[in-house]
Amino acid sequence: MQTRPLGNTGIQVPTVALGCWPISGMSSLDVNELDSLATLDAAIDVGMSFFDTAYCYGADGESERLIARAIRGRRDHVVLATKGGLHWHEGKMVHDARPETLRRQCEESLSRLGTDRVDLLYLHAPDDNVPIADSAGELKRLLDEGKTRAVGVSNVSLEKIATFADACPIAAFQPPYNMLMREIETDTLPWCRDRDIAVMPYWPLMKGLLAGHLGRDFVLRPGDGRAKYPMFHGDEWSRNMDLVDDLRAIADEAGQTVAALVIAWTLAQPGITAVLCGAKRTAQVHENAAGGEWQLDDRQLAAVERVLRLRGTPVTRPAV
Ligand SMILES: NC(=O)c1ccc[n+]([C@@H]2O[C@H](COP(=O)([O-])OP(=O)(O)OC[C@H]3O[C@@H](n4cnc5c(N)ncnc54)[C@H](OP(=O)(O)O)[C@@H]3O)[C@@H](O)[C@H]2O)c1
Repeated sequence: MQTRPLGNTGIQVPTVALGCWPISGMSSLDVNELDSLATLDAAIDVGMSFFDTAYCYGADGESERLIARAIRGRRDHVVLATKGGLHWHEGKMVHDARPETLRRQCEESLSRLGTDRVDLLYLHAPDDNVPIADSAGELKRLLDEGKTRAVGVSNVSLEKIATFADACPIAAFQPPYNMLMREIETDTLPWCRDRDIAVMPYWPLMKGLLAGHLGRDFVLRPGDGRAKYPMFHGDEWSRNMDLVDDLRAIADEAGQTVAALVIAWTLAQPGITAVLCGAKRTAQVHENAAGGEWQLDDRQLAAVERVLRLRGTPVTRPAV
């Protein structure tokens, strides 16, 4: 798989990372340990040797623990990214990015992952009760101590990224971004590009909606975490399926899948370094890896932009 530089850190990352939220089993259905370990193995085999996890992926760090098992004896073959600042308490996600919490979570993540250093440590989300400069200062100390090779931020406004950057060098920014959620293109993406900050979006496949395998008659089962997104309901859903059909025509012509086309298009956007694709099956890894190998030509890019214009502005906010 192609690799690209992680900002100016000297670290190279594969353009498609394995998003390790689904294997935590918290909002994705039909997850089991055997498939999850096979998925992690397959990712390493195809060169998707870049795992994105977090302290809060799993009620008790299940995602990090599975990764530890998958990388035993081959830690150096994998780029490991984790995050701190969010945790679960009585079934609810809690924001806590106090310096002492970030340090404790980092130590716990290292222990769960079975390593003494990660490659990238993110602030998962800002905490309204803690000045972001304080959170950044602690991540800088963890960087200086060698607990991580680089620091990133996620889910923050441009203003907050700038404040963070004054206290700690930022190698990566992790926002939501896909064909239906393009907000970062107006300001944050160019800002990061100008400063050599790698932008690594989550939800490139919008939780499978843009992977091309869900039919129009798809019905969300109880417990499926996607139920809270308007994109999976009513008129929005129908219009999204129209888009997927149009994308399929472009992918078919190239002998590729919709998922591969969507990933290749995302990677072609200026300033995007790598995409984080969640998966819990080996077939998904293979399909997504193909997107990382495919460089769209100008005609294909123009064809995708045409169908996106036709789709218009989607409703992007989750109904909380
Ligand atoms: N920083 C943050 O706050 C944040 C937030 C969200 C995510 N993330 C990171 O970004 C990663 C990606 O997000 P995500 O996992 O939530 O969603 P995603 O990558 O948009 O979608 C993952 C889901 O799409 C389906 N899928 C993936 N590849 C497929 C393929 N080739 N064909 C068909 N279906 C496919 C699978 O669902 P099914 O198998 O169920 O169909 C999979 O679980 C996460 O795993 C995590 O590492 C970070």
